[in-house]
Amino acid sequence: MGKDVIIACDFSSAEETYAFLDQFEEKPFVKIGMELFYAEGPQIVREIKARGHRIFLDLKLHDIPNTVGKAMRVLAGLDVDMCNVHAAGTSKMMEAAIQGLSEGTKCGQKRPILIAVTQLTSTGQEQLEEELLIHQPMEEVVSSYAATVKQAGLDGVVCSPLESPSVHEALGTEFLTVTPGVRLAGDEKGDQKRVTTPAKAKELGSDYIVVGRSITAAEDPVAAYEQCRREFCD
Ligand code: C5P
Repeated sequence: MGKDVIIACDFSSAEETYAFLDQFEEKPFVKIGMELFYAEGPQIVREIKARGHRIFLDLKLHDIPNTVGKAMRVLAGLDVDMCNVHAAGTSKMMEAAIQGLSEGTKCGQKRPILIAVTQLTSTGQEQLEEELLIHQPMEEVVSSYAATVKQAGLDGVVCSPLESPSVHEALGTEFLTVTPGVRLAGDEKGDQKRVTTPAKAKELGSDYIVVGRSITAAEDPVAAYEQCRREFCD
C-alpha cells in the first residue's frame, strides 16, 4: 500500500481539469478538493474515474456521526479510492464514517482508504488556545488525535512529511501518512510554510505525497510529475 504521488487538481472547472489531465499518458492518482467538487458535483468524480484515475476526494467531513456515516456511504458508491474526515469529529464520528464506507462499497471491491485531518496546518498554537480552548502544545495535540484516529479504525492521517517519522514511530508503519507540503527543489513555497522535496519525503517515510503547484504550475507538468515519481517512488 502507498508510495505514490497524488496530484492536487486544484482547478475550478471540469474543462480546466480535463485539459490538464489530457497531457498525461499515464493515469496519475489525483486529489479532488472542495472547489472542484462543489463546482461540478459528483459527476466530476465519475468522469475522472471513468478516465482511469484513482481519486482522493478531499472533502474533510465533520458532522454528527449519523450524517457523516450516510455521506460516506454515498462517497463509497462513487468509487473513490481515498477520502477524509476531521478527527475533531471524535471517534464516534470516525467509526460511523468507516461503517458508512464499508456499507457503500460494492461487493467484491475494497473499501476506500479513510484518513483524518488532525489539526489544520493553518491553525496556530495561539488559535488552538484562544479559540479552540486546547491548552496543549500542537505537537501533543496532533499525536493524541492521531492515536484516536488509529483507535477508531481509520487507515492514517494527513500530516506534514516532517511529522511522518513521529506518527510512524508512535502508531506503526502500516498507519498511513499522506503528506502535502511538497515542492520540487527550486520551486516557490507559495503559502506553504514548511516544505520538503519528494526525495526528502521518501526519506522521512511518507506513504503518499500530495503535490499541487509544483506539478500544476510547472512549465512541463508531465516532466514535473515524472520527477516527483522518480524521487519518491523509485
Ligand atoms: O499546491 P500545493 O502543493 O501546496 O497543494 C497542496 C494541496 O494539499 C492543496 O490541495 C491543499 O489544499 C492540500 N493540503 C495542504 N495542507 C494540509 C491539507 C491539505 O496543503 N494540511
